[in-house]
Parts: sequence; C-alpha cells; structure tokens
Amino acid sequence: MAERVEVLLSEEKVNARIRELGELISKEYAGKSIHVIGILKGGSFFMCELAKRITVPVSIDFMSVSSYGSSTESSGVVKVVKDLDESLIGKHVLVVEDIIDTGRTISYLMELLKGKGAVDVKLCALLDKPERRVVDVKADYIGFQIPDEFVVGYGLDYAQRYRNLPYIGIVKFDS
Ligand code: IMP
Ligand code: MG
Repeated sequence: MAERVEVLLSEEKVNARIRELGELISKEYAGKSIHVIGILKGGSFFMCELAKRITVPVSIDFMSVSSYGSSTESSGVVKVVKDLDESLIGKHVLVVEDIIDTGRTISYLMELLKGKGAVDVKLCALLDKPERRVVDVKADYIGFQIPDEFVVGYGLDYAQRYRNLPYIGIVKFDS
C-alpha cells in the first residue's frame, strides 16, 4: 500500500501563524519572563520556532509523557517519562504542545503542572481538533483549528516518521 502526504497547512502558513502567536504572547507577557515547557517529542519543533519569535525573556524546559492504555486512544492517565529539570515556583509557565485531540493527555498534564507553585500555567498548542474533544480543555493560544484528520509534520508523527516535514500534512493511503 503506497502512502503519500497531502499538504494541509503550508510551511509559509505555519510560519506566519507562529510569528503572529509570538507577537501576541510577547505583548501579553510584557514586563514578565516566560518559562516555556515543550512536550516531547511532538511539541519540540513548534516550541523552538515559537520561542524564537518571543521577545520577552524566555527559559526552557522539556517534559516527556506517555499515555497508558490502548495504542490509538489515549487513556488520560499519563506516565512521566522525562520530568522537568527546573522548578516552576514563582514562574509564568507556558506549556507548548503539538496538538489537542481528545484532550486527555494535556488536561492531566496541566493539572499536574498547576500543582507545582507556578504563578500561572498557560497552554499553547499548534493544532486543535475540536471535534475529537472528550475532556473539556481549552488552550490559551492555538495555531490552527483543523478537521478530524490524522496529520503529520512539524513534530507530529505517523509511526515515528514525518516529524521533520516543514508543513502540516495528511497521510493518504493509495490501495
Ligand atoms: P489526546 O490525549 O487524545 O489529546 O492526545 C494528544 C496526543 O496524541 C498528541 O500529543 C499527539 O502525540 C497524538 N495525536 C493526536 N492526534 C494526532 C494526529 O493527527 N497526528 C499525530 N499525532 C496525533
Ligand atoms: Mg504528543
């Protein structure tokens, strides 16, 4: 079965939107510094590009989580595979994630991070699939709302491939 990737959001569109988000976030955090937490692996590409567009002081950390349960549906109970290096006490935390799908993973993670002494914990996701939502979670900043399609690129994978695509695409299977 042949596989191809159809462009959903071009590199130009994604980059332009990230620039806008960077400007908006820089304005809203004026006079403050931001502790950005990238969620590995998917959120890492977006996080780097976003951080480059933020003009207030930024520090970064990473976290890696995996979902317990079946392979296709996240269970909402997440296992911390790589924990934070730095304390969150007294910081303005911005969590950067690739996509909000059912919302199970990120809502669990946000609750966990909110208990660590930060001044505030906000969420920024590159993509949002609102049709798929099971747990009510709203991001403070969203790049794009997309339809219920399986997407790859800009950090997102299909069986660990395609993360390096500079655009967002939909995997199509030709039989
Ligand atoms: P949730 O707990 O269902 O919101 O799962 C979110 C996680 O599932 C994301 O961080 C991605 O790793 C993965 N995911 C959800 N939708 C897609 C997609 O369309 N392509 C690639 N990964 C996805
Ligand atoms: Mg992920």
